Amino acid sequence: MLTRKINDNVYMFRQVDWELKEFHGSIYPLDNGTTYNCYLIIDEQVTLVDTIESEYSDILIKHLRNVLGTRIIDNIVVNHVEPDHSGGFLRIYEEFGVKNVYTSNAGKKAMQSQFFKDVEYNSVKTGDEINTGKFNLMFYLTPFVHWPDNMVTFLKEEKILFSNDAFGQHITSTNTFAKECGIEMVLDSAKEYYANIVLPYNSRVVKVLNDLASLEIKMILPAHGVGYKDCIPNIIEAYTKWSSGEAKKKVIIVYDSIWGNSKNISLTIGETLVDFGFEVKRYQLSKMRPSTILKELLDAEYLLIGSGNHNGSMMPSVAEFIERIDGCNLKDKKGLTFGSYGWSKNYSKKLESRVSEAGIELLGEGVYINYVPTPEDSNSIQEKIISIFENEI
Ligand code: FEO
Repeated sequence: MLTRKINDNVYMFRQVDWELKEFHGSIYPLDNGTTYNCYLIIDEQVTLVDTIESEYSDILIKHLRNVLGTRIIDNIVVNHVEPDHSGGFLRIYEEFGVKNVYTSNAGKKAMQSQFFKDVEYNSVKTGDEINTGKFNLMFYLTPFVHWPDNMVTFLKEEKILFSNDAFGQHITSTNTFAKECGIEMVLDSAKEYYANIVLPYNSRVVKVLNDLASLEIKMILPAHGVGYKDCIPNIIEAYTKWSSGEAKKKVIIVYDSIWGNSKNISLTIGETLVDFGFEVKRYQLSKMRPSTILKELLDAEYLLIGSGNHNGSMMPSVAEFIERIDGCNLKDKKGLTFGSYGWSKNYSKKLESRVSEAGIELLGEGVYINYVPTPEDSNSIQEKIISIFENEI
């Protein structure tokens, strides 16, 4: 665990979990793990903002003791109840004789359900403040960014926003701030995080950004990854863009293919659209992480989905991906279906229907070819794609 002194009064404790391969279940695989960050504010009263995964409780206690000596922790703020930020709550609460716990009303209910322990939680709402001596902490509820209980805490005098999951990323660096890692790389990681954790709740993000707009924020300290200092406008602008659904002339083509025929159709479609001036990214669903595709889809206007006929339906990897995007509340995405079939094309109706149900506006009838696409078929695919997309330029 790292202890970092953010300034004279604020400390960060960061546990790098290099071994974590899946974040929030198998839906979000990780290459380099993640970090869990919590923050200590030293004042007449000592306040800990969030805790940690239960397995890291003992090491956190040791690091807190190194800073606090024999001092107690007066307050714990539970910005979010998920176990990666509150699994160690009870250990810390009991070890440091904590007097007050502050969380949202939804947080209070979830904490009581999670720990079956009679802790007295103080429910807070947006605008509520506590005074810890020379400092004031103000709370902002951020429900569904990304759980019902989420909130953020603003240290007014230092202008620091403790944002918990919001603005997080999986940068497992020992650096403290984004600029030390390179802001582009951090924003790319934050984009994947947003697409997989926050995307279904876009409208809530818009509200949160509006609520926070009046604050002069000098630092954002999230509970995963590195903090933001000197680049606050970059991450705020990125969240504004992602939550608005703003998209560019970018086409995501996803498919799966049994004998390579649907893949060939995807190639013809992709090359045609590239020649037309679109940015195109093409993925075989059985070989690419959906979590990465979601990141690319975030700012794409078009999603084209293809499949071979598998037992009278779409291929399982395609069905699974459509189910995934169905839960993302995608808006204003347009698309098309395609595929190669053998003895029956009936499955295309099911594919079109599921894509449409998942919120993709179909631009026309899908592109389906019997067996292996011939050169003539490729020409007709090109013509059809051009006729559809010439209206989109
Ligand atoms: Fe980082 Fe929603 O937990």
